[in-house]
Amino acid sequence: MAKPFLRVLSGERHDPPPIWLMRQAGRYLPEYRQSRKRAGGFLDLCYTPEFAVEVTLQPIKRYGFDAAILFSDILVVPDGLGQDVSFIEGTGPILTPVRDVDQAGMLSMAGFDEVLAPVYEAVRRLSRELGDETALIGFAGAPWTVACYMVEGGTTRDFHAVKSFSYGDPEGFGKLIDLLVEATIRHLSAQAAAGVDALQIFESHAGVLPATEFKTWVIDPIRRVVEGVRANWPEIPIIGFPRGAGPMYLVFAEETGLTAVSLDVSVPLDWAMANLPSGMPVQGNIDPAYLLSGGDGMARSVDRIVEACRDRPHIFNLGHGVDKNTDPETVAQLIGCLRKKS
Ligand code: CP3
Repeated sequence: MAKPFLRVLSGERHDPPPIWLMRQAGRYLPEYRQSRKRAGGFLDLCYTPEFAVEVTLQPIKRYGFDAAILFSDILVVPDGLGQDVSFIEGTGPILTPVRDVDQAGMLSMAGFDEVLAPVYEAVRRLSRELGDETALIGFAGAPWTVACYMVEGGTTRDFHAVKSFSYGDPEGFGKLIDLLVEATIRHLSAQAAAGVDALQIFESHAGVLPATEFKTWVIDPIRRVVEGVRANWPEIPIIGFPRGAGPMYLVFAEETGLTAVSLDVSVPLDWAMANLPSGMPVQGNIDPAYLLSGGDGMARSVDRIVEACRDRPHIFNLGHGVDKNTDPETVAQLIGCLRKKS
């Protein structure tokens, strides 16, 4: 197992740490904006294997990251379940909202495999094209985060619709979560079958729930997803990203069965090193805003993070995604800072 990214996930330390960035393919890259224009819509990018492969490889060709992440989106799962999903430039995703158990009951797995087939075809092509050094990461949103978009109908500041549903009718909301657990297991297992080396589960809205509800809607569904995937693929490493979980990072790391956790920008590394399960690999966590400022401040932040994580298996990453206003040259500098250290 030569790929440094996979060696770290298996518990080894590596110097310098392997690096990839969340949202490493995206609008900050001129070549992405070109492909996006040629493809037409965002979902056309995701569902046309030629385009998905091309866009996945753009940051690998430009920067030589240690891992490629499949170009897709967490919202292909509700699309596969029959919900109307569209992406409007400048506005983000728009979904026909699912506000109660009856509306959730209209969704099903019937068309799922067919809608998502092009995604798995892209994975098969990528796993053939990537060399011996670069790992391929598949992913899905966690059930709670995907449910947030499904119930709210898009992005939200207050999460009132999804909380009204889940707090007001936990049993009904639980049926939607059950469906998402099943779909997520299916989606991740299919990516594993098509050849990804590792998986990441994005729980981008972990930070909005009180502790009791966090256990019910974050920990429990993710644990079921991990168990379901491992029943088919016992060896595959799975990384979790519970953005904003704060002190709940500990139960998250201990109780989900995940291989590794990705730390958001606000997690203090000395606290994480002292408290996360011994030997558990971590990923993170430079503030993506350092890619806007660059320079010595960014270099010092890289040094601090590498130093703080030196006694653990560590994959260098951002604490959230690359911002669209990032200068591609600054990403090259970031990688330079990290790799000159060895
Ligand atoms: O490079 C990669 O990381 C792989 C591709 C990827 C995308 N989205 C592409 C994308 C991944 C892993 C995601 C995950 C994703 N999608 C998350 C979890 C991570 C996070 O950021 O918290 C979430 C919450 C989504 C949902 C989503 N997709 C939103 C809210 C938006 C709109 C916001 C925006 O930046 O415009 C998207 C669209 C999207 N997904 C874009 C990209 C590159 C921008 C689309 C465009 O070209 O207009």
